[in-house]
Amino acid sequence: MACSGPSVYIHGVSADEQRRLSALNDYINDACLREIAVAPGQRVLDVGCGLAQFTRAMARVVGPTGRVLGVEKDEAQLAEAQRQAAAAAEESLIELRAGDAATLPLSPAEWGSFDVAHARFILEHVGDPLSVVKQMVQAVRPGGRVVLADDDHDVLRLYPEPPGFSALWQAYMRTYDRLGNDAYVGRRLVSLLHQAGAKPLRNNWIFFGSCAGHAMFEPLVNNALGILRGAKETILRFNLYDPADFDTTLAHFEQWGKRPDAALWFSICWAEGKR
Ligand SMILES: C[S@@+](CC[C@H](N)C(=O)[O-])C[C@H]1O[C@@H](n2cnc3c(N)ncnc32)[C@H](O)[C@@H]1O
Repeated sequence: MACSGPSVYIHGVSADEQRRLSALNDYINDACLREIAVAPGQRVLDVGCGLAQFTRAMARVVGPTGRVLGVEKDEAQLAEAQRQAAAAAEESLIELRAGDAATLPLSPAEWGSFDVAHARFILEHVGDPLSVVKQMVQAVRPGGRVVLADDDHDVLRLYPEPPGFSALWQAYMRTYDRLGNDAYVGRRLVSLLHQAGAKPLRNNWIFFGSCAGHAMFEPLVNNALGILRGAKETILRFNLYDPADFDTTLAHFEQWGKRPDAALWFSICWAEGKR
């Protein structure tokens, strides 16, 4: 059963969590950038931009004749986004604005002006993803693109399966509906584009897995560990997993990450439509 009221961002904004989000960006931004294929001179809106690493990656492509605006509701994320942009001497590449994805903080002149509106890993954290996609459709010009990338957590597969992991992952997915969110929103992306009045154009997977022997395997295992550690309080508060087993299962998973035959299969759902 979903709780009522505003959605809770389950990952939070601690320094550890921000490090996890940055590492995740390092891994998938090139693939996402290839997929979105923004072009020099384009005006781009990044909704729920988080630490704005991908916002800056898009800004490097659109160049000085383009414009990239990132919208983020959390002040701590915005502050870290500003800090990272300054550290990379890229402050002038992007504009960051505080605001909610469901009521985008755009001026009358900005509505209907963007060439591309993008949202990644945010629809899974809002109670009404359709209202966000509708806003994005209204933000782009006629013929402009709306690009959505998000998780369907149910596609995760580990082999060989570490003891208890599957039940713990199920418990993590259950926290989404307890918080009023959708852990499987990825599979709905094309449908959301259609319902929001955009014309769906294509969908794809962005591979986000790895295996023993690959440089990204340890970071990806650490990413999953960070997610589950961060969600521990929520999982236990909703009685979704036996508290006595939680740490043991995580320890099994951490050990599993050192196996020479371990494989983690995961992909992000990606969809594009036009107004
Ligand atoms: C998992 S992070 C993804 C950030 C970024 N899009 C990326 O891919 O790296 C989700 C971000 O969405 C933000 N967020 C959650 N709900 C939001 C809302 N209703 N409006 C704007 N931002 C929101 C969170 O604060 C967080 O920074």
